[in-house]
Amino acid sequence: MTPTAARDHEPSPRDRLIVALDVPGVEQARAMTARIGEAACFYKIGMELAYGGGFDLVRALVDEGKKVFLDLKLHDIPNTVEKAARQVSRLGAVYLTVHAYPQTMKAALAGVAGTDTQILGVTVMTSMTDADLAEAGYAQGVADTVARRADQARAVGVAGLILSPHELAAMRARVGRSLRLITPGVRPAGAALGDQKRVATPGGAIRDGADALVVGRPVTEADDPAQAARAIVAEIAAAQSGR
Ligand code: C5P
Repeated sequence: MTPTAARDHEPSPRDRLIVALDVPGVEQARAMTARIGEAACFYKIGMELAYGGGFDLVRALVDEGKKVFLDLKLHDIPNTVEKAARQVSRLGAVYLTVHAYPQTMKAALAGVAGTDTQILGVTVMTSMTDADLAEAGYAQGVADTVARRADQARAVGVAGLILSPHELAAMRARVGRSLRLITPGVRPAGAALGDQKRVATPGGAIRDGADALVVGRPVTEADDPAQAARAIVAEIAAAQSGR
């Protein structure tokens, strides 16, 4: 396959921008997607919006040709995870997150088998430190636990992992192209950090091996969200053509 042909199968720069709809209700979410218009085609719905009526919104967005990442971070006994994942797959979401425990990932994969929904693993929450893991009874620290769960995610066969920008390069080297790597914590140069501490620019994250970026406030709190999304997509395109 020629490099050009290989690139034809790559997601477009716009497909690599996932806008986080971190709003409490469907009305606010709808107002935001209307302002963004065609500048973005992929939205992340997290627990707050999901529990505030967002499950119907998933269907509505999918019916309009948008893609949805449902960030529910499932973790329960395998039977419950499998059945919950099957229900979610009926909504038409492209991605569903689960905690990256082998049992949980296997159950979620069984639940979405035969559907278009793909499973992403959350290795260790970025709010957790080594001390937090020790307090919770884990023998290993964050770095070792992330690496171990990434290897398990690959062995189980989930589609990809969510991870912070500072883990991207090392993780890409570790897993090759076997897992999709998706990162939040992205800030265009000059954008407010908010509560994010370890951030990357859109171009930097793509160059470090990210397949897609989750971006919330730099788009949703911009004076012109559509323009902010277009600027990020342009930066992704420039980085993608150079890697
Ligand atoms: O507004 P901002 O761009 O910081 O939003 C980032 C999104 O990614 C939020 O929905 C946040 O919950 C999510 N996220 C994150 N860091 C993680 C995992 C998820 O910021 N480690």
